[in-house]
Amino acid sequence: MPEQILVTGGTGQLGRVVVERLRAAEAPVRALSRRRRSGEGVEWTVGDLRTGRGIDVAVAGVDTVVHCATDYRHEVETVRTLVEAARWSGQPAHLVYISIVGVDRVPLGYYRAKLAAEEVIAGSGLPYTILRATQFHALVRTLLAGASRLPVVPVPKFRFQPVDVRDVAARLVELALGAAQGRVADFGGPQVRTAADLAHSFLAAAGKRKKVVTVPAPGRIARAYAAGGNLAPDHADGVVTFEQYLAECGKPMALRYR
Ligand SMILES: NC(=O)c1ccc[n+]([C@@H]2O[C@H](COP(=O)([O-])OP(=O)(O)OC[C@H]3O[C@@H](n4cnc5c(N)ncnc54)[C@H](OP(=O)(O)O)[C@@H]3O)[C@@H](O)[C@H]2O)c1
Repeated sequence: MPEQILVTGGTGQLGRVVVERLRAAEAPVRALSRRRRSGEGVEWTVGDLRTGRGIDVAVAGVDTVVHCATDYRHEVETVRTLVEAARWSGQPAHLVYISIVGVDRVPLGYYRAKLAAEEVIAGSGLPYTILRATQFHALVRTLLAGASRLPVVPVPKFRFQPVDVRDVAARLVELALGAAQGRVADFGGPQVRTAADLAHSFLAAAGKRKKVVTVPAPGRIARAYAAGGNLAPDHADGVVTFEQYLAECGKPMALRYR
């Protein structure tokens, strides 16, 4: 068991659950946020990975960092800041990084940044573990919620393999409590589904009757999605299905996140 674990993004969708699970495993957890917080049985620390403010204090005495924070337009810089701080903290902390399935196949700006961030970590000289996960249920639901505001629900001819953050968090915690492994096998949701199929589930859960139409999506990014670049069909590891997630959310239109 690590002596002190830092979870960055401890307030985020994934980081929040990672913190809860580490606490349940009685691991010593410190969590980072840009805002002052207290409670939840956690030692909160204030820091900003974009400016570097407070990061030296956040990593002090830490032997494992689970990096769940994401500053979408500054992914590489924030990872560099974390790596530098971890290098200078006096002990070589194990960095556990959550990335996305397809960062090397789908030419989205954010995916390219995640891939570059993986390379920064792999080249840091620090012990590291990188896990790539497929799209979280909440992201797929947010996309479908947007499309379903239209009279007819347009969806691209893509497939998704949505995964529950609780399943991803459980795997991340397992990795954080163990030794560094480099890049590990991808982690996918339990089912590969067409966007149209997921849209029907979303509409049913929202109590809406609308037609779903598959529309062409042009461009390189769309081609990469259409080719399944975002999928990990050999790693259908998650347990919670999209329908189970929607049922727990209540009316999907009313809530952005769970
Ligand atoms: N969403 C998906 O479908 C998906 C799929 C696979 C992998 N992932 C990866 O999973 C990770 C977590 O995603 P998420 O959806 O849980 O994120 P999220 O809910 O948007 O949370 C982002 C977190 O980052 C922190 N943060 C943002 N900027 C920061 C900064 N400059 N310094 C320090 N902390 C900062 C925020 O903390 P404060 O606001 O409290 O400071 C917040 O806790 C990301 O790396 C993402 O790429 C996501």
